[in-house]
Amino acid sequence: MILKLAIVLLAVGYASSQGLDLKPYNVTAAALFYVSDANKDGILTLSEVDSNFRSYDRDDDGRISRYEYTSHVDANSPQLHAFSHGLYDIYDVDSDDFLDAHDYESFFKLMDSDENDVVTQHEYVRYWIVLLETLEHLHGGGRKRANL
Ligand SMILES: *[C@@H]1O[C@H](CO)[C@@H](O)[C@H](O)[C@H]1NC(C)=O
Repeated sequence: MILKLAIVLLAVGYASSQGLDLKPYNVTAAALFYVSDANKDGILTLSEVDSNFRSYDRDDDGRISRYEYTSHVDANSPQLHAFSHGLYDIYDVDSDDFLDAHDYESFFKLMDSDENDVVTQHEYVRYWIVLLETLEHLHGGGRKRANL
């Protein structure tokens, strides 16, 4: 998902080779929701989250290793290197160093705060604002353009 975010940010001028400007986080989160919501119906389902993750599974073995994830991000957005590791740690909900269906489901549940099996844009944005704040030391936030 974060790779798609980087592409969106590059497209709208948020990111540069020097760093990322992810603030305001609500706007970044809304942009990320938009690219993740594949069928553009305004809600995210587990199957949409699942297929977003699967695009990183290059050897198609049903799970994503840390190397698969971070090297994919590095190849396209080297300024996201530290952030990609921080995100991997969050996505790897069971901390077994692989992302698989179990993790996608757990991550989905973290975002689905009212537990009705769909993630609305409101739920998604609320979750991602906290996530972007938590990982601010890894992506440099807005003002301070860190060399990631
Ligand atoms: C983001 O938050 C600001 C400040 O609360 C608000 O004015 C703006 O409309 C929000 N933007 C989006 C896309 O939600």
